[in-house]
Amino acid sequence: MGKYLINTYGCQMNIHESEKVAGILQDYGFEETTEVNDADVIVFNTCCIREGAETKIFSNIGAVKPLKKKNKNLIVAVLGCMTQQKKTAENLKKKFPWIDIIIGTFNSDEFEKYFKKSFEEKQKSFEVFDKEFDIVENTKFFRTSGDNAWVNITYGCNNFCTYCIVPYVRGRERSRRSENIIKECENLVKEGYKQITLLGQNVNSYGNDREDEISFPMLCKKICQIEGDFRLKFMTSHPKDFSSELIDVIASEEKMSKVVHLPCQSGSNKILKLMNRSYTRENYLQRIEELKSKIPYVSLTSDFIVGFPYEEEEDFEQTKDLVEKVQYNSIFAFMYSKRSGTVAEKMENQVDLQVKRRRVNELLALQKEITAKKNEKLVGFVFDCLLQEKKDKKIMVSESGLSISLESYDGIEFSKYYKVAVTSVKGNKISGKIEKRK
Ligand code: SAH
Ligand code: SF4
Ligand code: F3S
Repeated sequence: MGKYLINTYGCQMNIHESEKVAGILQDYGFEETTEVNDADVIVFNTCCIREGAETKIFSNIGAVKPLKKKNKNLIVAVLGCMTQQKKTAENLKKKFPWIDIIIGTFNSDEFEKYFKKSFEEKQKSFEVFDKEFDIVENTKFFRTSGDNAWVNITYGCNNFCTYCIVPYVRGRERSRRSENIIKECENLVKEGYKQITLLGQNVNSYGNDREDEISFPMLCKKICQIEGDFRLKFMTSHPKDFSSELIDVIASEEKMSKVVHLPCQSGSNKILKLMNRSYTRENYLQRIEELKSKIPYVSLTSDFIVGFPYEEEEDFEQTKDLVEKVQYNSIFAFMYSKRSGTVAEKMENQVDLQVKRRRVNELLALQKEITAKKNEKLVGFVFDCLLQEKKDKKIMVSESGLSISLESYDGIEFSKYYKVAVTSVKGNKISGKIEKRK
């Protein structure tokens, strides 16, 4: 039988959706390949969060054209957020009429139907629905993230941050039933997964669309009660709904990961308001203080956008000041990118590209210094770690992503949690020793 290659762009949600597509292709008897020349099916699971993402995807799709000539049976499918934008989907079809399947996120749940049409009847599909899909259960995934398993808890987003395209290409927020989520987690633990990451654009608002559903902190608590040695993570949280109740669950449940990704976007109240983020820098810092005081070694990460319309030097200084105050373990920083159909697209006072570039570099340089200083203070801390192989070398990786070297890996097994104490930090090299077997 043939082989398939899936190119995934964008967030964790897309990575997980590609696992669903892989499950379908495997059912048809296809095998995975990483070699594009060997592929009989090439899938592009796309993202449109920033303009740069779209440009790159267009050029990567274009590069596949010669392969279509070489292999008459090659099926090329493009799905995801980029093609949910009707205009972009039409442009793509016009530019690359040889693509076999173009669908959006609102109908990507029916990928199998479109694939069958192409595979069995050699027919092309071009379909982008106007309305989001209803939640489908019992999906088969071909999981590809090692010890980690992704689990969707909500789809879509209702927040409409003024810069963001996600609510337009993923539709309104819909929550899965908690009993289905818990059942899926129980099965994953039984199958041996060591980490479960709950996925949603704003996990904290889980259940808000269903009157009879439990809250997000309660859902986490119930999942932590599942017997077995695993850690529970989630992505992504919106600071406006990040409750003390959730902080208490993270602090008290041993299985809750102590890594918290809390996107801030800007340290300036003026910009936060223009972004429609519904919190102030003071509220945000107060959440951070509560996290730090209740969780002795909490690992904090965040997202920032620089160069949002009307961002002046003093607003940017406020962002840098906030980053200094929080002392994150790491951050992502993006240059604001205008997205079609969003509120910010129409805002005046767009910031020059050169200014955005300088600010993003400045912010990342600041964080680099903070990370280095934070690493120096790691000696003595104990982390939950899993053994991993990186570039043919063994290494212990903490749930916060730290790579810690041991003197010897004798007797250390894969897929088992170990407590590792940091013994020294020299430059980028963090060394440690096993504290006790979990
Ligand atoms: N739902 C999540 C993640 C959304 S996308 C959340 O609310 O945090 C991931 C990140 O991309 C965002 O946190 C933001 O920092 C960035 N982003 C989104 N739209 C953007 C845009 N138009 N330009 C630049 N960065 C953007
Ligand atoms: Fe976009 Fe805001 Fe929704 Fe996140 S919460 S997906 S940034 S609209
Ligand atoms: Fe991109 Fe869609 Fe995720 S726009 S970041 S793939 S939700």
